[in-house]
Amino acid sequence: MSDPLVKAALQARENAHAPFSHFLVGAAVEDAEGGIYTGCNVESATYGLTMCAERVAIFKAISEGARKFRRVAVVADTETLTPPCGACRQILWEFCGDVEIVMGNPGGKIETLRLGALFPRAFDASFL
Ligand code: THU
Repeated sequence: MSDPLVKAALQARENAHAPFSHFLVGAAVEDAEGGIYTGCNVESATYGLTMCAERVAIFKAISEGARKFRRVAVVADTETLTPPCGACRQILWEFCGDVEIVMGNPGGKIETLRLGALFPRAFDASFL
């Protein structure tokens, strides 16, 4: 696995806190300067307060001052590669726009598409 962004997401996945679903997810976002911010899913006993890996990663990046993003990687151990959930697509769209989404698994399978293809006709601040 040579892509450092996917590597970072795989590393972050090692920290996933998923005692309820046992579904471990890692994410990494790359900013315009090449900085990488990572996240994993963090589950709550309420289930509903669970936070996805992608939102942990983008909120960490924002909280550390990053503002412009190029790519997002998401990794899980699925043969059909795991895409960001609907809530994450909305948040990623608002903070990253039409970036590349790199989906991968620990076996080295990779697929890249743009967020606009995953999340067409999004609602965002341009409507307000
Ligand atoms: N999950 C993510 O972290 N990202 C996704 O894109 C899909 C789902 C997490 C949430 C929950 O902890 C577990 O995977 C099962 O839904």
